[in-house]
Amino acid sequence: MTEAATMTVEVGLGDRAYDILIGPGLLARSGAEIARRLPGTRAAIVTDENVAAAHLDTLKAGLVGAGVDSVDIVLPPGEKTKSFDRLQEVVDGVLAARLERRDCVIALGGGVIGDLAGFAAGIVRRGMHFVQVPTSLLAQVDSSVGGKTGINSPRGKNLVGVFHQPRLVLADTGTLDTLPAREFRAGYAEVAKYGLIDRPDFFAWLEENWREVFSGGPARIEAIAQSCRAKADVVARDEFETGDRALLNLGHTFGHALEAATRYDGARLVHGEGVAIGMAMAHRFSARMNLASPDDAARVEAHLRAAGLPWRMADVPGGLPDAETLLSFIAQDKKVQRGALTFILTHGIGKSFIAKDVPASEVLSFLRENHPG
Ligand SMILES: NC(=O)c1ccc[n+]([C@@H]2O[C@H](COP(=O)([O-])OP(=O)(O)OC[C@H]3O[C@@H](n4cnc5c(N)ncnc54)[C@H](O)[C@@H]3O)[C@@H](O)[C@H]2O)c1
Ligand SMILES: [Zn+2]
Repeated sequence: MTEAATMTVEVGLGDRAYDILIGPGLLARSGAEIARRLPGTRAAIVTDENVAAAHLDTLKAGLVGAGVDSVDIVLPPGEKTKSFDRLQEVVDGVLAARLERRDCVIALGGGVIGDLAGFAAGIVRRGMHFVQVPTSLLAQVDSSVGGKTGINSPRGKNLVGVFHQPRLVLADTGTLDTLPAREFRAGYAEVAKYGLIDRPDFFAWLEENWREVFSGGPARIEAIAQSCRAKADVVARDEFETGDRALLNLGHTFGHALEAATRYDGARLVHGEGVAIGMAMAHRFSARMNLASPDDAARVEAHLRAAGLPWRMADVPGGLPDAETLLSFIAQDKKVQRGALTFILTHGIGKSFIAKDVPASEVLSFLRENHPG
């Protein structure tokens, strides 16, 4: 593949601005792209066993080709890897390799590796350079962009971390060929999310073209680039989530409650699946509150269903706790301020907004009505 197939999206953060390169063959070009931006850098590659088996050698060859020395730190796959123990392992690996502030940590993997490696890069020597090489669809369209990094605490997900922007994101779309189909589909929920937040034309385009996005080729690259553009816009407006960035949580309040209700058991529900159900619920709930037309909710449900995603609570295998318990998971979610429930609701496709003071009683009634029983 030629360089011409690569698309570039810039994240406009002034003197911390960076490029997201999207296209096939980027692992092989990684050394040149990194060395151009970080001359003389050395690197610690953080990855997981699944991704290492499929892509680590290609990345290392790409680095060697441009004279970038590297060590690698290979961790077990899965959400449990976002822990204090693994953070310590990564920090120790970086220090043992005698890397300095001007050297870089490269995250090669999905969102788990990106969040963990980014956090390590943010704290070792008070902040080293960081490069994201996302290999899951979710990571390419969401977690690798925007600088949120961190790990989980026994008290909850993503509770410990820092904002630390990467210097470069290399989204090699060829890596998605080895991603399990279910993970690809789950990542697609976040792609659809950008259309539903504020890009109705993109959502309509996805309704027409989702099959091509799934099968690969130019439509896939286009969808990833559009998604990165959407996220980059929000991040440039509100880097530290004091306002608009919260819109990216569309579908996540209900989704996180379902993830908690299934005890983060990926065999039952992975994050993007929870988001898919959560987005459909946010639209249905908005219609119930007379904020949006039920036709829009039906359109969202139909698209998620067509793409093979779950879209209602009844689609969660293994049953769910009752509506009161689900509400308690929502109330524990971090988007609760001074007792009032904050949700991302919508006036229709592409017209989402931040709704503060959503009455818990309405949410409870809605959960009861839609509970599979
Ligand atoms: N920082 C942010 O802004 C942000 C945003 C959204 C999500 N996240 C975080 O991202 C994480 C979820 O990310 P994820 O869905 O990528 O999960 P993940 O990193 O666990 O990857 C999913 C699975 O796919 C495998 N995999 C990844 N790429 C592969 C490839 N190319 N070939 C074969 N297997 C591959 C992984 O080994 C893993 O088993 C969560 O921890 C979530 O909190 C962070
Ligand atoms: Zn998400």
